[in-house]
Amino acid sequence: MDLVYYKRFRMEINLAGRDLTPSPLPDSFFFLPWEESLLDCFARAKYLSFHDEMDTNVFPCLADYAGCRRLMAEIAGKPGFLPEATWLLVRQAGKQERPEYCGTVQGVRDRHGFGAIQNLGVAGGYRRRGLGANLLLRSLAGFRHSGVRRVFLEVTADNDDAVRLYRRVGFHTIRAVYKTVETANTP
Ligand SMILES: CC(C)(COP(=O)(O)OP(=O)(O)OC[C@H]1O[C@@H](n2cnc3c(N)ncnc32)[C@H](O)[C@@H]1OP(=O)(O)O)[C@@H](O)C(=O)NCCC(=O)NCCS
Repeated sequence: MDLVYYKRFRMEINLAGRDLTPSPLPDSFFFLPWEESLLDCFARAKYLSFHDEMDTNVFPCLADYAGCRRLMAEIAGKPGFLPEATWLLVRQAGKQERPEYCGTVQGVRDRHGFGAIQNLGVAGGYRRRGLGANLLLRSLAGFRHSGVRRVFLEVTADNDDAVRLYRRVGFHTIRAVYKTVETANTP
């Protein structure tokens, strides 16, 4: 086995006094709050957002649907899981159309009362329309509504799109951390 080290930024935001109002969602998009019966839909949105992205190197379970479903169930089962900070972004063009699960974010509160954003993602075809910022702000508003004042996240340092989004919304980097991943030896 080889070991690969991925540089990640630990970022923080203090929610006190911050304007968390998102811009309006484009037509035919809406949010659904977490509920157990939507586990498959949340997993699908996670899979579509992450399956061909660099974070699959760091968290291989994100590369396939079964792994995304397992991860979603694991997050929802954590003692500090916060449904208020956990959202599914859906697009449905008309009542007869199939809903498309195009993004998701999850929130957890740790035992010190700090929030943690987990796996913010928007599916490939839906990016650069403000939906990522919208999901993030919605989640942060849910944290604040639940009494959480400081929220943390980790992001792969090379993930420029995500780092820019987090900075734009108000996160700042506290430190770099290194995630070790075992990989099979290549001959
Ligand atoms: C990171 C991620 C969530 C961003 O989602 P997104 O929906 O593209 O985010 P936004 O649309 O809010 O912002 C992205 C860019 O689009 C721009 N934008 C927003 N609305 C726009 C519009 N209507 N027209 C054109 N550009 C727009 C933003 O200004 C931003 O520009 P910048 O990158 O130059 O700063 C998405 O790239 C993603 O899911 N990546 C893969 C999963 C991942 O790595 N997640 C992070 C884990 S830590």
